[in-house]
Amino acid sequence: MSPLLEVRDIHTFIGQFHILEGVSLSVPQGSITALLGRNGAGKTTTLKSILGLTPPRSGEVWFAGERINGRRSFDIASLGIGFVPEHRAIFRDLSVAENLRIAERRKGDLARKEEFIFHLFPDLKRLINLSGTALSGGQQQMLAVARALVPDNKLLLIDEPSEGLAPVIIEQMMAAIRELAAQSTVLLVEQNFIVASQLAERYVIIDEGHTVQAGAMADLVQDKETIHRYLGAA
Ligand SMILES: Nc1ncnc2c1ncn2[C@@H]1O[C@H](COP(=O)(O)OP(=O)(O)OP(=O)(O)O)[C@@H](O)[C@H]1O
Ligand SMILES: [Mg+2]
Repeated sequence: MSPLLEVRDIHTFIGQFHILEGVSLSVPQGSITALLGRNGAGKTTTLKSILGLTPPRSGEVWFAGERINGRRSFDIASLGIGFVPEHRAIFRDLSVAENLRIAERRKGDLARKEEFIFHLFPDLKRLINLSGTALSGGQQQMLAVARALVPDNKLLLIDEPSEGLAPVIIEQMMAAIRELAAQSTVLLVEQNFIVASQLAERYVIIDEGHTVQAGAMADLVQDKETIHRYLGAA
């Protein structure tokens, strides 16, 4: 079966800087793929390039059998790609309910998905009328993920969901991601290698803006040299 997402040798510039210099990856349907690499490797830029927020200058991006690079971000997202940006991107001056409502792509999305979202993140139901500023870091991150679940998405791009969270909250977040991956497909940027290795079946490593290695997570876990060389972890 062809992959749900395929990125072929993309090159992306930000201003005059050549940030991505040949990123390729493929994400099979119904799985979690971890996008790994040290700080500044180009992980976030890869997600933004897929979405057309930083459009690649060359190379191709294919999603669900269609070539999507060159289209507008809104049109790309409308094909069914949800994005959870890094640093808990929510509207902090809006309530939990408002944050969820404005994430609708079509009227009625939230009503359809509410039960599933509150099942994954019961805290959000309890906090529904609070403003974003009143939430803890973990609750803000849950809301950021929940917003991407409001519309029907075939693919979720999630950037560093565990960043800065306490271990017990990371556990909750991992359980939620595992459950939502059972009905969607996830490309997960994750600096915490323990988290990534426990969630993902496949991995892609990028370094200095290009793909260096990809394969089964079970193999990477055994490969201490690669982990050390590209991820700086033991
Ligand atoms: N707006 C920008 N202007 C100039 N350079 C940028 C810009 N955004 C990113 N970069 C550079 O592009 C490179 C890749 O950045 P990117 O944010 O994609 O890395 P990352 O792998 O997500 O890193 P991190 O782990 O720190 O989130 C870095 O060297 C960064 O400094
Ligand atoms: Mg990043």
